[in-house]
Amino acid sequence: MVIKIIGNKIFLKEMEESDAKKLHEYSKEPKLNEFSGPYNASESIEKSIEYIKNSKKNILEKKSYILGLYEKNTNDFLGTIGFFDLDDENKNGEIGFWVAKNYWNKGYMTEAIKVMTDYIFKELKYHRIFAHFHELNKAVERILSKAGYEKEGELREAINSNKGRYYNDIVYGIVNPY
Ligand SMILES: CC(C)(COP(=O)(O)OP(=O)(O)OC[C@H]1O[C@@H](n2cnc3c(N)ncnc32)[C@H](O)[C@@H]1OP(=O)(O)O)[C@@H](O)C(=O)NCCC(=O)NCCS
Repeated sequence: MVIKIIGNKIFLKEMEESDAKKLHEYSKEPKLNEFSGPYNASESIEKSIEYIKNSKKNILEKKSYILGLYEKNTNDFLGTIGFFDLDDENKNGEIGFWVAKNYWNKGYMTEAIKVMTDYIFKELKYHRIFAHFHELNKAVERILSKAGYEKEGELREAINSNKGRYYNDIVYGIVNPY
């Protein structure tokens, strides 16, 4: 299964092993992990390669869809967006994403979420997508709202900051409009 989702400024596709070096570099940025942490590929390039290989295998087996985010003009790899924890019976799944720090606030993820959401509804035929995030992660709240997601609730004090404070985990979702 070859996936390529094309937007105006970006495109999404399966990552390649040639992306491992950047994936490793990007994921070492502490700011990226401040609120959740996309995953931990920072240990080594080997771990990044393994992550990419697993992502490709899972796409092939329709278990999850972790895609790379690329800038259209340069083909530069910028981050990832994924659809995972799939509940096939109820056609529900979770969306998660991150962009390398140097590319923040340029509109890349807003566009990525919009085109990915459309793909999940139109091509994968899922019924509901949800995302959850740390209550202080205001950028996520903003981009999900812009992509049509709505607040469904909050899990009170579900996130332990490890600094003696618990934070709410906010849940946003969207139902297939097609
Ligand atoms: C969240 C993240 C993916 C956003 O990606 P991005 O490409 O920078 O997003 P965009 O540029 O498309 O949009 C960012 C929006 O958030 C807004 N924003 C950014 N920081 C904000 C803040 N502290 N408070 C309120 N809004 C904020 C921006 O103004 C922009 O909105 P606008 O276009 O209306 O001005 C990126 O910051 C990231 O990778 N963060 C770390 C990983 C993470 O938290 N992932 C989500 C886990 S659930």
